Amino acid sequence: MSVLDKPGPRTGVFRRQPITDDSGGGESSGLKRTLGLWQLTAIGLGAIIGAGIFTLAGTVANGTAGPAVSLSFILAGVASAAAALSYAEFAGLIPRSGSAYTYSYAVLGELVAWLIGWDLLLEYTAIVAVVAIGVSGYFSFLLEGLGVDLPAWMLGAPGTGDGHRIDLFAALLCLLIAWLLNRGMKTSARVETVLVFVKIAIVIAVIVVGAFYVNSGNLTPFLPYGFGGVVTGAATVFFAVFGYDAMSTAAEESKDAQRNLPKAIVLSLAIAMVLYLLACAVLTGMQHYNKIDAESPFATVFQSVGLPVFADIIAIGAIVGILTVLFSFMLGASRVWFAISRDGLLPGWFAKVHPRTEVPHRPTWIIGIVSACIAGLMPIAEAAELTNIGILLAFVVVSAAVIVLRYRSPELPRTFRCPGMPLVPLVGIGFSLWLVAQLQTMTFIRFLIWFALGLAVYGVYGYRHSKLGQGAGKAGGAGGPSQPATAAGSGADAAPKGGDS
Ligand code: ALA
Repeated sequence: MSVLDKPGPRTGVFRRQPITDDSGGGESSGLKRTLGLWQLTAIGLGAIIGAGIFTLAGTVANGTAGPAVSLSFILAGVASAAAALSYAEFAGLIPRSGSAYTYSYAVLGELVAWLIGWDLLLEYTAIVAVVAIGVSGYFSFLLEGLGVDLPAWMLGAPGTGDGHRIDLFAALLCLLIAWLLNRGMKTSARVETVLVFVKIAIVIAVIVVGAFYVNSGNLTPFLPYGFGGVVTGAATVFFAVFGYDAMSTAAEESKDAQRNLPKAIVLSLAIAMVLYLLACAVLTGMQHYNKIDAESPFATVFQSVGLPVFADIIAIGAIVGILTVLFSFMLGASRVWFAISRDGLLPGWFAKVHPRTEVPHRPTWIIGIVSACIAGLMPIAEAAELTNIGILLAFVVVSAAVIVLRYRSPELPRTFRCPGMPLVPLVGIGFSLWLVAQLQTMTFIRFLIWFALGLAVYGVYGYRHSKLGQGAGKAGGAGGPSQPATAAGSGADAAPKGGDS
């Protein structure tokens, strides 16, 4: 195994993991390589297509952008694609678990990596909770439609309605997904692939059936809220266009990751975008924008044209579809945690994989339980506040890192190259920062508290236990021979079949 990148500092918070010719992957990671190109693409689509299209498309069409909601999707899609191309370059170059955390560790150093990893743990867990609450809402709606009367105490978090004590269904859903993920990657990827097929079939059915009911008169005025509405709408539907980043955390469970991961990232976003644009065209063509329902737009629009059974099928399909988002983000959170612990920044106990299922079961259960508590006890609006900022920050860091590495080590053997350097990553950075600026003050305050907590954990534990730091110490610190030490820190040999410390 040879080191490809220029050596960085060996000590201090900017020490970097090496990029090697197998980049720390390989069989020694302890995880099992079971995912092919289509399964990876399914995980990507599983994370990308969800509440963003099934709910937010209606919200934005109705109140923000009108029929021009498709332009909002294009704008958000371009920004996300700019970041996706940077992710794809890294995924081909460093096919290790951990995604943005791992890429920043190799390019920008340990402290930045830690903060991004810490941040993704919160974001991904919060996304799982938010989506579970959303699904739970649909589920109660369907049960009510069937005449099933559930007791109020189990229908929502305290403060969200009369007699509400806990959103039991949302909490149980989080635990169910954790259980499924812990059955092993093969089983869970199989379930995920089936669910993704169902979800895509529903979206295609919406497009094909809906096309017969489009009335071009509904599309005028096309820009009722001006271009400003389109831009504001883009900030909201941005939620619909990320998710491939969660898929790239499964790098060490994919076959031929260097080739398959970049392809799966680009493919999943491209497929999702085509489906989004067609679905938005049908939605706004079928019903006048000011009548489009803001919560379950696709089911409602088919009810409005006299197809109630089809509307119910869509509602069920939306639930199934949104479930896959839960799956992909819980997978993402547990793999980021796995990678951080394997590198010694959190206790190695978390990086031990289960001897039979070969998955990091401990982080998965903890994330399942924490997300279940958030989903059960927090109102959706508050949980949603926790989500976007960290993803956007990860996009900024990955896009910046791809530029840094391209200029620092242009000769690295990249299986995928982000085109239009440095313009494309700069677009990703610019748009992400613009979106960050749209967030609420409370979001920044919560985020800063989490950030401060992260710095404290790093100061007290991570800095001293870092494998990279310990390796550098053994090798004589700065100026010592670099490779044996840094290779130890790469994590490749840290947890063979589940144990390192
Ligand atoms: N992109 C995911 C969704 O739309 C998060 O639900």
